[in-house]
Amino acid sequence: MATMTPETWDFINRYSREVFGSQDEHLAGLMEDAVTAGLPAIAVGPDVGRLLMILTSMTEGRLAVEVGTLAGYSGIWLTRGLRPDGRLITIEYEPLHARFAAQQFVDAGIADRVDLRIGAGLEVLAQLAGELETGDIDVLFLDAIKSEYIGYFELVRSLIPVGGLVIADNVYGTGEGWIDQGHGTDEFNRHVAADTDFEAAAFPFREGVMVALRVS
Ligand SMILES: C[S@@+](CC[C@H](N)C(=O)[O-])C[C@H]1O[C@@H](n2cnc3c(N)ncnc32)[C@H](O)[C@@H]1O
Repeated sequence: MATMTPETWDFINRYSREVFGSQDEHLAGLMEDAVTAGLPAIAVGPDVGRLLMILTSMTEGRLAVEVGTLAGYSGIWLTRGLRPDGRLITIEYEPLHARFAAQQFVDAGIADRVDLRIGAGLEVLAQLAGELETGDIDVLFLDAIKSEYIGYFELVRSLIPVGGLVIADNVYGTGEGWIDQGHGTDEFNRHVAADTDFEAAAFPFREGVMVALRVS
């Protein structure tokens, strides 16, 4: 059995981006421009972005809800997976990030399909739970405060139809460390895995991406 070394893990991550990470010019330059504007470089990579697009396109694709917009990078990928009249609601706490992302949605030609809400994920999701109907959310993408993932999930769980997806980043680690060091979302992972209305698995992509399909 071949041993996984830190070097091999780094190689696989670079390889994944090289082979599966092609992207257009706008997306390729977006995070560099974001960093110049003072935003942190903590977006998903292009390989995970493409995964978001593919998974979204496998649902009904009417509405995706994202918690943690940052610069709009993942939001653009998600929106590309929606059907032509599908909408993205994306939630961002930092006004600087939201302003930058709003311009990126214009530049990507999708501003009319994106509803960018400035506020705390838990508060905005609670509002959405009052605005939306059961079964409205085809994709819920979680990428903000890791300790709040269970709260995000529970607030809108009932709005996700059978065939809908919950996707969560950082389920095996964060920029601070890995799940064996107490970073990541162990409690959330176990919470969703134990939910009999969902079938959940996680890709060991980057810092771990969970995908949970609503089955009942
Ligand atoms: C990891 S970044 C999101 C990256 C983005 N999804 C991407 O891949 O392109 C997390 C974002 O969540 C935002 N954030 C932090 N606390 C939040 C909260 N309570 N509610 C919503 N967003 C929050 C941060 O400001 C940051 O922009």
